[in-house]
Formats: sequence, C-alpha cells, structure tokens
Amino acid sequence: MKKNKKMDKKVGRVLINKEQIKKRTKELAKQISKDYKDKNLVCITILRGAFMFLADLCREITVPAKFDFMAISSYGDKSESSGVVRIYKDLDMNIAEKDVLIIEDIVDTGRTMDYLLRNLKTRNPKSIEICTLLNKPANRIVNIKIKYVGFEISPEFVIGYGLDFAEDYRHIEDVRVFEED
Ligand code: IMP
Repeated sequence: MKKNKKMDKKVGRVLINKEQIKKRTKELAKQISKDYKDKNLVCITILRGAFMFLADLCREITVPAKFDFMAISSYGDKSESSGVVRIYKDLDMNIAEKDVLIIEDIVDTGRTMDYLLRNLKTRNPKSIEICTLLNKPANRIVNIKIKYVGFEISPEFVIGYGLDFAEDYRHIEDVRVFEED
C-alpha cells in the first residue's frame, strides 16, 4: 500500500516551549512599542498560522495600533512550498500612509512574504516591516528583510502554537518538530 505522507510523520520533540515563546514575545512587543511610538501602526496578520502569536504579541504592545487580517495560502496540504500564493481574504482597511507591520508565523522559502510585500506596497503604505515568530533562513529562496524575528530555527517542519500540518496541530501550546516515523 502506498503510504500517505501524513502517516509517515508524528508530533515530535518540543523545539521552543511556551515559556520561551512568552519571554521572546514580550521582548518583541517592547521593541515594537518603542519603534512605533508616534506612528500610525497597522498590524496585518496572516491567517491562520499567526493567530496565536498575534494574540499574545498584541496584548504586550503599548502604543496605539489597528489590526487587520489577510488569509493567504501557499502550501495546500503539502509540507513543501509551492510558490503559488492565493488570497482567500483581503484586508478591510485602507493602508495608504500607514505604518504597516506584517505579523507572520514563519518565513521559510520567503516566497509567500515576497508576494505579500509586493502586493501591499502597491497600496502605498508609509512604511512596511515584518515581524515573524519563526525564521528558517536555510530554506530561503527569495531574499527578504525581516525586522523582528522571534526565533531562528533549523529547516525542520514544525507544528503547534498556530502552525499546522494539513490543518491539524494548531492548538498545541509549544512549537514542536513534526518528525518522520
Ligand atoms: P514560504 O513561502 O516558503 O516562506 O512559506 C511560508 C508559509 O509556509 C508559512 O506562512 C506557513 O504557513 C508555511 N510553513 C513554512 N514552514 C512551515 C513549518 O515548518 N510548519 C508549518 N507551516 C510552515
């Protein structure tokens, strides 16, 4: 019988635990609050992977901020980047002249972020920066400038704390490695 890719993998070791995430999220929010003092901060969160990170990060941000959401996909049910990005839900806000901060769960090849940056720049924001919980620089195909990085990780596939495999495992509280059996 041909094995399903999903059957070959299992929830593995904790890579980043909830205390580490909490501590780093506070540090990032402190830096963001300092950098965006007296600016027009609009946080754009990419659904669905970054929902948990946003929820924790935004409660530590101490400057005025607005929030909007986009839903895009580049993966389908596979654990490799397809390079094809689809917008499922666009922004409701007009971001012209705003200081946009993209809140992302993970930057891997950089293709999704590259597409997003090019798309959002056409809407004339005053500035645009990226905050990602996780960064996998070893897998990068498109060069992306990321201002705020939670953790740099090795090129393993991870799940938990919002990150999924085929829509499962998002509610796990730590970031865990999704290991081969
Ligand atoms: P990129 O276009 O290759 O940078 O991929 C970005 C998107 O791929 C992220 O927003 C995630 O949705 C997904 N992704 C990349 N690596 C992982 C991973 O290790 N676990 C879960 N999702 C991932």
